[in-house]
Amino acid sequence: MAELIPVALLERLKEMEPVCLEHGGVPYCVIKVGAEVSAFVAICTHKKLAMFPPKLKKGLLVCPHHKVSFDPVTGEVVNDRGKTVNDLSPVNVEIVDGIVLLETRKRHRKLVSKSERRWVEKENRKLEKMREDNE
Ligand code: FES
Repeated sequence: MAELIPVALLERLKEMEPVCLEHGGVPYCVIKVGAEVSAFVAICTHKKLAMFPPKLKKGLLVCPHHKVSFDPVTGEVVNDRGKTVNDLSPVNVEIVDGIVLLETRKRHRKLVSKSERRWVEKENRKLEKMREDNE
């Protein structure tokens, strides 16, 4: 079953600046590229590690672990760097009244190990604390 969660106002999304968020331990990445807003489960399929956040290099999403790169619009692998890796899992995005909504699904949890979910939750708490401190 899907759950729509708000990400940001569309007008606040910056071009090619991924927004990372966690929901139920699942890391998600939302990115605006031109007129498109794309979203993925931010789990690299090489070692099933979270890209939380992914790096951005030369217009590509880059896994911070072993540097495999992905297309930010389609999630397709661009450079596998000799690793066995699949494309990122896309996530539907809706825009309602100028708000970007992410369609999370229970099946996304199956893509993330329990230990990785715990790590993502911990990292997300740190990120939220940093955001609060900066407000
Ligand atoms: S886990 Fe992403 S490239 Fe290895």
